[in-house]
Amino acid sequence: MSQNQTPLFSGLLEHAKKNPTQFHIPGHKKGAGMDPEFRQFIGDNALSIDLINIGPLDDLHSPKGMIKKAQELAAEAFGADHTFFSVQGTSGAIIAMVMAVCGPGEKIIVPRNVHKSIMSAIVFSGSIPVFIHPEIDRELGISHGITPESVERALQQHPDAKGVLVINPTYFGISGDLKKIVEIAHSYDVPVLVDEAHGVHIHFHDELPLSAMQAGADIAATSVHKLGGSMTQSSILNVREGLVSAKHVQSILSMLTTTSTSYLLLASLDTARKQLATKGKELIDRTIKLAQSTRKKINEIDHIRCIGEEILGSNATFDYDPTKLIISVKDLGLTGYDVEKWLREKHNIEVELSDLYNILCIITLGDTEVETNLLVKALKELAEECEHRSTKVEPVEVLLPEIPVLALTPRDAFYAETEVIPFDESEGRIIAEFVMVYPPGIPIFIPGEIITKENLHYIKENLEAGLPVQGPEDDEMKTIHVIKEYKAIK
Ligand SMILES: Cc1ncc(COP(=O)(O)O)c(C=O)c1O
Repeated sequence: MSQNQTPLFSGLLEHAKKNPTQFHIPGHKKGAGMDPEFRQFIGDNALSIDLINIGPLDDLHSPKGMIKKAQELAAEAFGADHTFFSVQGTSGAIIAMVMAVCGPGEKIIVPRNVHKSIMSAIVFSGSIPVFIHPEIDRELGISHGITPESVERALQQHPDAKGVLVINPTYFGISGDLKKIVEIAHSYDVPVLVDEAHGVHIHFHDELPLSAMQAGADIAATSVHKLGGSMTQSSILNVREGLVSAKHVQSILSMLTTTSTSYLLLASLDTARKQLATKGKELIDRTIKLAQSTRKKINEIDHIRCIGEEILGSNATFDYDPTKLIISVKDLGLTGYDVEKWLREKHNIEVELSDLYNILCIITLGDTEVETNLLVKALKELAEECEHRSTKVEPVEVLLPEIPVLALTPRDAFYAETEVIPFDESEGRIIAEFVMVYPPGIPIFIPGEIITKENLHYIKENLEAGLPVQGPEDDEMKTIHVIKEYKAIK
């Protein structure tokens, strides 16, 4: 088959064209049984292929027909031995990926700044996380990836680990030396798992960081929906056979996946793959140029900085994705949160994220100069407005928490009996909830860790500086959930 073909999407269209009389779910029956307002809005085209795994349409749980062919084309396009489609986002793919390599009591090496789906996977699998501190960029107040040196040290101490998990690239588009990390892990026969939520496009352009499959990683969960042009919630899991078994991955993914898979999402994966494989280079080329010219224009504005290749050169900043515009606003005397709100209210512009020092704007295949010019114009106006303001906020410093000792696996802590005690009296107890501060987005505590005086102090300092502390049930942090202790009975 050729990359110009879309076996799944075309198969659905052919089926819909036959206009069969349907006595199967979905009960809206091509929209006829649906609320008319929504039906009209969403359109009969979309509803005609909102179908289910009847015989001619194959089954994601055991693909043998059009889904199998679509996954095979995706594997070829992404340089994988096998590609699995996910209708549960990259979160679902990540949970399957972690559960496919480690089980109860087994170790997995992970950066401390992982997405919550990885912590969920650690709880579900019962595995033991061995954390590596990511490199922190104090200037930008963000965390990057992990370094080959830290992976080597972690594996020297834990050669029995079942996997090394890497975020490549990070949300901000920064990559470490993934190829080297893979070489190190493979010298211990340990597979490399990649959270590639922000890197579906990097495989298709040689000016972008190496993709997981190009770097020789064993398994990667990739959000096609984020930057690759498919519909929200559709992702893929790429597998290289060897240290990971594709059959095992398929059965775990199947255990975690709805039996009512959305064919709209699946078809959008098929067509996004076609576009990336056949026109990706050209479209991404245009996107990179647009992002670079926007970066240049933003950098001409006083007190605003759009980060570029000058960020490269540390052990954790090996390469970067220029389509991510990290815009530092701290010299305006504003926080990223203030700027996000200002852009929304004054210019109807929505950014990808904001934090203490920055906003992040993503430029994708869907952008043109029309949108980027609006952003540049708005930022110029903001800078001029700030020139005339008398009160400026001094930026607070982003600090790094110490990683506490893990006393119980996160799963045992999650299922243990807990009690609520005053925050100030919790030193030495085992925590039962997550506590994190953003930025730099690193958990201070995960369930199962022993609470230390230093980290309680760190939380207080952050609260006093006005940084958002996330996760605990009591967001004022007056009380905290810990594992219940039973005193000896006299
Ligand atoms: C680093 C990272 N990993 C994983 C995910 C999960 O991806 P999804 O939203 O497709 O489930 C995200 C989502 O933002 C993310 O930022």
